Amino acid sequence: MRSRWLPASTALAVLSIAAIAACGSGSSGAAGAAGTSGAAGEAGATGVPGAAGASGEAGARGPAGAAGEAGATIVVGISDTAAQGLSISPVPVDLTGLNQDQIELVGNGSYLVNAASDCASCHTGTAGFLAGGVSFGPVTSRNLTPDSTTGMTLTEPQFIVSMRTGADFSGVPDGGTPTASLLVMPWDALRWASTYDLASIWAYLKVIPPVTNAVAADTKPVAPPTPFPADGPGGAPLPPEFTTSGDAEAPVPDPGFTLRGLALNPLDVTPPADPATQSQFGRGCYLVTAISDCSGCHTNSGGTYLTGGQVFATPAPLEPVVHTVRAAAADLVGAHNGFFTNPDVDYATFLTLITEGIHAEDNPPEPLAYPMPWQYFRNMTSDDLQAIYVYVNAVASAGLASLSTDGVIPNPALYCDSTISCPPGSTCSSASGGECLAQGACSTDLDCDVCQVCVGASASAPTDGGATDGAAAFGSCTALSSVAPDGGTSPLAQCVAEGYPAFH
Ligand code: HEC
Ligand code: HEC
Repeated sequence: MRSRWLPASTALAVLSIAAIAACGSGSSGAAGAAGTSGAAGEAGATGVPGAAGASGEAGARGPAGAAGEAGATIVVGISDTAAQGLSISPVPVDLTGLNQDQIELVGNGSYLVNAASDCASCHTGTAGFLAGGVSFGPVTSRNLTPDSTTGMTLTEPQFIVSMRTGADFSGVPDGGTPTASLLVMPWDALRWASTYDLASIWAYLKVIPPVTNAVAADTKPVAPPTPFPADGPGGAPLPPEFTTSGDAEAPVPDPGFTLRGLALNPLDVTPPADPATQSQFGRGCYLVTAISDCSGCHTNSGGTYLTGGQVFATPAPLEPVVHTVRAAAADLVGAHNGFFTNPDVDYATFLTLITEGIHAEDNPPEPLAYPMPWQYFRNMTSDDLQAIYVYVNAVASAGLASLSTDGVIPNPALYCDSTISCPPGSTCSSASGGECLAQGACSTDLDCDVCQVCVGASASAPTDGGATDGAAAFGSCTALSSVAPDGGTSPLAQCVAEGYPAFH
């Protein structure tokens, strides 16, 4: 499993209006109310942006808003998922001239981009929604908008090849064959998505507003694309997507891509026998593996599936906003320390975590640290959140022997400065901006916050920025060193400013 990269950090000064459109997580309560009245009035038509407002808490109310704005004729008959997708798009989508199937496709694409996945985390910078320009060291996220000069020029087939094999078409002449591979883009998860879902994402990207934003060329090493395998990550053959009846367009019925999900199951976990639960398991595995890339953050490089520990540094401009300097992805399924293995965790706990961004299982409840992208995931339908719960819970309950090696994931390291103080019992490492260090409370590094080291019973800041300190415990503090020190902008900064509750 490849690890997720973080955006390089820079000044937060550029954080501005675009952020609000991009994240759509702002005043969710108020926005929900606005959405409802938008549907009532014709403001809805102008108010495609109104739909974005509804993205917050008002998941269930979203579809109603979309119906209002798009005109009853369009939305009638599309799936709940597509309606949800249309209602949560943070930007207006141009549905002019599209037939019902195409609208369904666009709605499904918006759902995948804005709820089940977090494309905007990396592709939305200061230029606008999905307009790219975010630096990740040697590469910069691309402009995915349909701007004719600086936007995405991939055809649908090229887009699908790119996601399935990592092929980078940038700079490849028309008709040429890519020789380089995308580096930071999590194509290794997206590759498992169904052709229909990939086509949906492409269709959505074609109808969002074009934004002119030329993006810097990459300086990454050239690695060839990876051919798409016939089998899923666990070795099971992938089910056919289309019939062999001669009608190439006729899909094999696989609602929610649950059969595909069952084939993608990367572990030797037996799906539940009961058909209804089995299809939830399949859908959940499909989302977790192919769309939401939970594993990209929750599996350490070389580590055990979904047992966490990958460390993420908070970009410097965000530290005073979210009050953390770094956090480690949680252990989701470990036999001893997995979130879903904990008997106190039920679906309600998970739902609160995803929809409100708090650890409801803790007393008092702590916020969910950056960069867990719950502001996107909370836009998922409750069917999909339940499916994810069923799948990850089944993995946790399987109690695979190899999962018994999971360790404790330490708490996020908290930010402090002259105005943001530390919790009682800890001191700030630097008045000009540092991290909180618990005093007299540790006997090993594991008792400290993530990547900190225990020196004489007190926590001490990592001496090399976390590159190696504490690494023995998790093997993951090295992740910090992959964060480039400069360049680019942090799109997450924007979402964070609106959505993440601050610690202490
Ligand atoms: C972790 C950050 C990250 C996430 C999440 C991410 N991308 Fe990317 N993406 C990138 C970067 C960076 C590049 C450019 C180059 C590279 O990776 O080598 C890129 C490249 C691309 C390209 C190639 C564009 C071109 O013109 O050739 C497409 C298409 C794309 N991303 C779509 C998506 C979609 C759709 C999603 C969500 C489902 C997504 N990305 C999520 C970082 C990300
Ligand atoms: C961009 C990286 C990223 C992605 C993608 C991601 N997570 Fe997370 N997640 C994190 C981090 C970091 C934490 C730790 C947050 C904290 O310490 O408060 C976390 C925490 C959690 C927790 C809280 C667990 C606990 O012990 O309290 C759950 C549950 C969770 N994630 C589930 C998921 C699921 C399910 C997916 C996919 C649908 C997912 N995450 C995708 C980074 C990510």
